[in-house]
Amino acid sequence: MNVYVKSTIPLAEDAALEKNPVSAEIEFCNVTKMYGAVAAVKDVSLKVRRGEFLTILGPSGSGKTTALMLLAGFVAPSKGDILISGKSVAAVPSYHRDQGIVFQNYALFPHLTVRRNLEFPLEMRGMKTANRAARVERMLERVHLNDFGERMPSQLSGGQQQRVALARALIADAPILLLDEPLGALDRNLREQMQGEIKALHKEFGKTTICVTHDQEEALTLSDRIIVMRGGRIEQTDAPEALYDRPTTRFVANFLGEANLLEGSDFKLECEAAQPSATVAMIRPERICIVAPAAPKRADGGQRQSVIGTVDDMIYAGPLRKYHVRVGSSILTVREHVASGQQIFKPGDQVRLEWLRSDVRFVAD
Ligand SMILES: Nc1ncnc2c1ncn2[C@@H]1O[C@H](COP(=O)(O)OP(=O)(O)OP(=O)(O)O)[C@@H](O)[C@H]1O
Ligand SMILES: [Mg+2]
Repeated sequence: MNVYVKSTIPLAEDAALEKNPVSAEIEFCNVTKMYGAVAAVKDVSLKVRRGEFLTILGPSGSGKTTALMLLAGFVAPSKGDILISGKSVAAVPSYHRDQGIVFQNYALFPHLTVRRNLEFPLEMRGMKTANRAARVERMLERVHLNDFGERMPSQLSGGQQQRVALARALIADAPILLLDEPLGALDRNLREQMQGEIKALHKEFGKTTICVTHDQEEALTLSDRIIVMRGGRIEQTDAPEALYDRPTTRFVANFLGEANLLEGSDFKLECEAAQPSATVAMIRPERICIVAPAAPKRADGGQRQSVIGTVDDMIYAGPLRKYHVRVGSSILTVREHVASGQQIFKPGDQVRLEWLRSDVRFVAD
């Protein structure tokens, strides 16, 4: 069943474009990509739902860009197959795959104005000249660049170039949008603003979107689901909250956010269930409370474990305060939101750390 475009850009001008489904389903079936002896992508199987926003997260060299380029058709799998809406695209060259792409460096045509950059994908699809202009104007308006149509890309700021790249990827209404580190070149504030913008565009246009990033915050903010890659393989796939709250491996626990791995025998860990073999206990820094040793205990029916430690250092980071606390030979990280009336501890202070037993997780070693 095709779902037809319901964006603010009416497609009545062009019958060919009107037939485009708004989004498509993507499937990787045991895909491997070898470069000589190196497997850049290793036996990856994955289904991306129609209209889903999926982020590929992972350290440098883990195969993120290769996975995206396999889908875009710029590289061919050594093994396995990729299906789009149920059909193999093995024999479909990249220029015939119906996808909008934002490359890491934006790859705007430097010799064309903003307006011409946006017109290009429409021209490639054979849209009539008379129909292109109105569509370009509407898209310029959508990304707040109405007054920039006649500028060259070199005359734009990073954020403005990024908007043009997004607009160019969306303008032809391709059912799939691929983003490779789309916000990598922007400063923190602009990145946050553009995250909001990408989210809004995704909601409005409903494209199946695959975004590659190594920025965990960006992945958590934008995605319906995240896949974490490691050495060409998928380590874990989950919704952002599940991935952060229930990482299955030590690698994911450490890669996504900060993790206290309770490995030593400095104190006996109290848990709700028996610890499975070959696992490490883990607790997130914000799940630990820091109080004075003599502070009254909470009446919570014995659901908490508490340990005594000594503050090693305290780092103030605006809305957050981070402590490193020595407990025996281990250092635990504690993160708390700054609030008025809160007791502030200094290095050398004795403290009591408390956490709910139900907040302890076990991750594969
Ligand atoms: N054209 C190529 N020839 C040989 N090896 C390659 C090629 N492209 C990628 N590789 C290798 O494949 C692996 C995965 O590379 P890829 O570019 O997919 O990583 P990435 O996760 O996107 O990393 P980054 O975050 O640094 O962009 C790396 O070991 C890389 O060296
Ligand atoms: Mg890359």
